Amino acid sequence: MKEKLTGAAIMECLNTTIVGRKIIYQSEMPSTMDTARKEVLGGTLEGTVIITDEQTAGKGRIGRPWLSPKGCVALSVILCPEVSLLSSIIMVASLAVLYAIRDITGLNPMIKWPNDIMINDKKVCGILIESGVKEGGKDHTIIGIGINVNLDAVYLGKVSVPATSILNELGREVSRLKLIRNLLIEIDKLYLCVRNEGSLYEEWRQYLDTLGRQVYVKMGEEIFEGVAESVTRDGNLMLRTREGNLKRIIAGDVTIRY
Ligand code: BTN
Repeated sequence: MKEKLTGAAIMECLNTTIVGRKIIYQSEMPSTMDTARKEVLGGTLEGTVIITDEQTAGKGRIGRPWLSPKGCVALSVILCPEVSLLSSIIMVASLAVLYAIRDITGLNPMIKWPNDIMINDKKVCGILIESGVKEGGKDHTIIGIGINVNLDAVYLGKVSVPATSILNELGREVSRLKLIRNLLIEIDKLYLCVRNEGSLYEEWRQYLDTLGRQVYVKMGEEIFEGVAESVTRDGNLMLRTREGNLKRIIAGDVTIRY
């Protein structure tokens, strides 16, 4: 699909309140997270979005690399939520991706705890969330989103987890421009909802396909095995271990046992 991304094209009629007030687009970048961090240090506007066509040093969770060649969507969004809203940001990000993909494709993505977006049990999108406080300044959160959009099956074999792309699932390419615009609109809407004391918990839980499944969870150096029983309102996973104990997982990497 011949389609050129530009900041202006993305911004056109975006009609969002916060997200996309400033858009930084470059055809190539090491990582949109690095650029976002520099923006934060420079005192950027909340809602700034950093987008690239290709990352040369993309970052995944737990220090892993993230492959994002041309055809993917790689972007970071800078938000400044109150500390009390931090646990909702994971829900904002994963629901926004899920709705944006669903609306553009008609596919039915699901969420693998905490924030992988899956189609047919294969990962189509990874989300990385970094929060911090600038010295003498405001709290900030950077949401990094990488979606395998028009990505050929050849690339999908190069990653360590079962992965897919929208192209692979749909059998045709989709407009990245439309997907990005939908995604930014969804993030804006859901972020405004939590800022106005709305809750996304029920919605998020509804799409979590991890619940009820037998899983391995890697938390730091420890590995736990059991059934993913429930999630707390602040997004923690409650795991019923083999020994029958209920273990709270705040952050970790889940592998579903089939
Ligand atoms: C994961 O490990 O699942 C998270 C992957 C997050 C990748 C995105 S792509 C845009 C942003 N820039 C990065 O370097 N990483 C995130």
